[in-house]
Amino acid sequence: MRRFHLLIRTNWISSLGAALFTCAGLAAAASIYLQFSGQSTGPYDAILTLLALPAVMAVGLLLIPVGLFLHRRRLKERLEELADKPLNTARAVAAITILTLAGMLIAGQQGIGYMSSNGFCGTTCHVQMDPEWTTFQDSAHANIHCVDCHVGRGVEASVKAKLNGTHQLLGVLTGNWERPIPTPVHQLRPAEEICNECHWPEKYLGVKLAVHTRYREDEPNTSYVNVLLMRTGGTHPDGKATGIHWHTNPNVSVDYVAIDEHRDVIPWVKTVREDGSEKIFVANGAASRDAPEGELRRMDCNDCHNRSGHDFDEPGDAVDRAIAAGLISRQLPFIKKWGVEVLRMERVRPSAEQNIHDTLTKRYEDAGLLDDRSRPLVEGAAKQLAKIWLRNIFPERAQLWDVYPDLKSHRGCFRCHDGNHVDGEGQVLTNRCDACHVVLSEEQEDPAILGTLGVGGGR
Ligand code: HEC
Ligand code: HEC
Ligand code: HEC
Ligand code: HEC
Ligand code: HEC
Repeated sequence: MRRFHLLIRTNWISSLGAALFTCAGLAAAASIYLQFSGQSTGPYDAILTLLALPAVMAVGLLLIPVGLFLHRRRLKERLEELADKPLNTARAVAAITILTLAGMLIAGQQGIGYMSSNGFCGTTCHVQMDPEWTTFQDSAHANIHCVDCHVGRGVEASVKAKLNGTHQLLGVLTGNWERPIPTPVHQLRPAEEICNECHWPEKYLGVKLAVHTRYREDEPNTSYVNVLLMRTGGTHPDGKATGIHWHTNPNVSVDYVAIDEHRDVIPWVKTVREDGSEKIFVANGAASRDAPEGELRRMDCNDCHNRSGHDFDEPGDAVDRAIAAGLISRQLPFIKKWGVEVLRMERVRPSAEQNIHDTLTKRYEDAGLLDDRSRPLVEGAAKQLAKIWLRNIFPERAQLWDVYPDLKSHRGCFRCHDGNHVDGEGQVLTNRCDACHVVLSEEQEDPAILGTLGVGGGR
């Protein structure tokens, strides 16, 4: 060891390398110890232990031979001094190198695994990712990985993602990133390569009952129920596609041109049906049936299920759900109207809970509606509203209401099915209510159909 030491000290570069290597190694050991003893679990610690410190160790290790090489004349003299036992020195160098390389290999592998984990993607850049991380955790996909949808399988995809990730990391470090973060609609790989790793597009899903209990913005929060039979459909055993999932049949294609960044405006749609027949629908009044300038895209799952990983709420929907579940009391006059109003007000996250509590309480106080009986109900409602607000709103990232609309809705479907797109023979792209769903009841207070089906009360 003493000999090895002498060897390294032949020049300043190797000495610096050895010092870096030792310090980073000790720091890594301390950091690992701290993490295992549960004293620090922040995401930056893991980056430090698994990525930064091993990188410093590697640089240090590299500097040793570099220094020895650059100052090889001095090295010769030293080696001559140490000539009595030169073999031991070589062995020591070899042993340390092998040990270090093995250590770095393990750390590197752990590091790559860690960089693909939900914890890394969801929490490292927490200001940037908090909104998606939060809404991901109560989505149907909470138990899969961010990389399953955002990277997918294959070496090429991983390399691309790492390059893109490096670009994003630089953005985060320099504060140079867009707020709100744009949806990756233009970078996502086709659903065929991502979603179909787990989903089977031909699966026949048939019809599904959807019961939406809603409340009006009046004093008694009058309730009404929309009952729909969604014709999700899919592919029948005979290969014929029906219903909403007709679009997902592999023998069918829908290509469209969107003329804006968010794909909100779709003036041109071409479909090839199962029998090979082709139709072009253009927005009514279009001068020509040729495709206009714009982005040409083949429709896939994400043109409807764009929020499958992160579904942000509409404030009205969220309040309706909380009232229907009994979490917010319907006994409170105007709670639907005022609840939504309070949710829509601007505030910052750290004091949001207190601010929502104070604003709502003041509303009831000013209206002369706050008494011993209503106070606990107002407090309970304020707590639920704060939960809803904190799940959805992240002002530091400009993540406010309505930033990321769900396309699995009239808004998304009516980009094409608005009754305004016609084919060459003047036939309208269907907008019959019944093509997509049977409306069993709309805006009725107590629809008889729920009694018939035995699901009264909307539960
Ligand atoms: C089930 C697939 C899926 C999973 C899993 C998933 N995402 Fe997404 N993510 C999407 C899709 C699709 C979009 C594009 C949304 C759109 O076009 O409206 C998106 C958009 C985003 C955006 C852009 C901003 C936005 O909300 O549109 C960020 C950031 C993001 N995801 C981060 C994450 C993180 C972090 C995780 C893991 C914690 C994750 N995603 C897991 C499918 C997924
Ligand atoms: C790694 C596997 C995996 C991938 C990849 C995946 N999903 Fe899923 N998805 C699931 C599983 C599992 C469920 C069922 C979850 C449950 O109900 O417990 C699911 C459920 C769903 C649902 C039903 C959601 C609901 O709210 O009921 C939709 C819609 C969906 N996925 C769409 C997508 C889309 C679109 C993509 C591609 C962007 C995708 N999935 C990618 C595994 C996956
Ligand atoms: C044209 C729009 C559209 C496309 C394209 C589409 N879906 Fe759907 N999908 C829907 C609608 C609408 C529903 C019914 C939602 C409901 O019941 O509220 C649905 C339902 C589902 C469900 C069942 C959810 C449930 O709980 O019933 C799954 C799973 C699903 N889709 C996955 C996919 C996958 C995977 C793809 C791509 C291969 C895809 N969808 C393509 C619109 C679409
Ligand atoms: C990019 C345009 C586009 C969007 C967006 C779109 N569709 Fe379609 N849809 C089509 C085209 C094109 C057809 C085929 C019409 C034809 O051949 O007459 C179609 C057909 C259908 C059909 C009839 C299938 C059959 O049995 O023949 C249903 C149901 C349907 N769409 C539901 C939906 C729903 C629900 C949504 C939103 C979640 C939606 N579509 C979004 C383009 C679109
Ligand atoms: C192109 C397909 C399509 C057409 C045409 C269509 N809808 Fe819908 N509708 C949908 C989808 C998708 C949803 C969302 C279902 C969900 O949220 O699960 C929806 C939701 C609804 C809801 C529930 C609203 C709520 O959230 O409580 C009502 C009511 C409704 N539609 C009525 C109609 C009526 C009436 C018509 C005809 C004038 C019509 N729809 C035409 C696809 C369609």
